[in-house]
Amino acid sequence: MANTILPSTVTIVEMGPRDGLQNEASVSLEDKIMLINDLSKTGLSHIESGSFVSPKWVPQMADSAQVFGKIARSPNVIYSALTPNMSGLEQAMAARVDQVAIFTSASEGFCQHNINCSIADSLKRFAPVMRRAMNNNIRVRGYLSCVVDCPYDGQTQPDHVAAVAKALFDLGCYEISLGDTIGTGTPVRVAQMLSAVQSQVPTSQLAVHFHDTWGQAIANIYQALTMGINVIDSSVAGLGGCPYAAGSSGNVATEDVLYLCHGLGIHTGVDLNALAQVGQDICHKLNRVPSSKVSQALNA
Ligand code: HMG
Ligand code: MG
Repeated sequence: MANTILPSTVTIVEMGPRDGLQNEASVSLEDKIMLINDLSKTGLSHIESGSFVSPKWVPQMADSAQVFGKIARSPNVIYSALTPNMSGLEQAMAARVDQVAIFTSASEGFCQHNINCSIADSLKRFAPVMRRAMNNNIRVRGYLSCVVDCPYDGQTQPDHVAAVAKALFDLGCYEISLGDTIGTGTPVRVAQMLSAVQSQVPTSQLAVHFHDTWGQAIANIYQALTMGINVIDSSVAGLGGCPYAAGSSGNVATEDVLYLCHGLGIHTGVDLNALAQVGQDICHKLNRVPSSKVSQALNA
């Protein structure tokens, strides 16, 4: 079968230490460092490693400065963190973070619950963060949540996703990661959303971020690949969820994305077996089995 419509390479942005562990109450500093150090040896090129957010809102990430201070950094890996405001950026710079990310939502309800402001106010808040980051040669990624559905507002209109994605792009984000935060998307709705966004933001500047709550993430990723998207966020062992989206499960498992991509002949640069072992190890620490089907099959 001809394979020409699919990208030849995909970049994985590993979410486990941030989106994964932000949902875990009791992970020690040592285990976080071990996870990032082990992930750094699998061929990944970008690991989101923490958040500089209010510790009252997400206490699980309160030790991010210590994490960044103690990891063994590989020169081949970008270690990034979330920064919702100027205070977060200052802390991230002090911790020598390689890259930061700002985050807002395509729906008002989630924006209020997640960062305590409207979408418009979030964009105003990000403008000085962006300027200061750019002045310090720090690249800024932008996350857009609830691009398909919102747990508070229901369905999100594709045109609205496109408008907020364009606003993040115009602010200066080098890449916009489109988040199906509650994992309800299915391929046709994802395609409608993506084509609306692609009319406003170049495809080369887009990434997809699927949570796998309804088991649709791999189907949605395949859809995105056929539309030229070649940056995929995923989480080792499928760890995680969002504290402000009740019932939302973790990101799509990195193992599952690697198996899909490699099976399609797409180069990722990541060693599936090595990464699956890292997933087994962190799950052992968390006293559970990886939610990844691929990991379970490899381990059978
Ligand atoms: P606020 O309460 O409106 O902010 O929260 P504030 O400026 O009034 O500050 C309140 C307190 O927080 C103050 O402390 C500040 O100093 C402190 P107090 O005076 O009360 O002692 N504070 C901070 N402390 C540390 N670091 C900071 C910081 N900023 C303020 N950066 C705020 C607004 C944005 C801070 C808050 O809502 C927040 O931290 N939200 C983060 C929520 C979060 O991390 N959610 C999960 C990540 S997003 C996600 O998972 C979705 C994603 O994966 C994509 C997808 O799946 O859709 C990215
Ligand atoms: Mg997420």
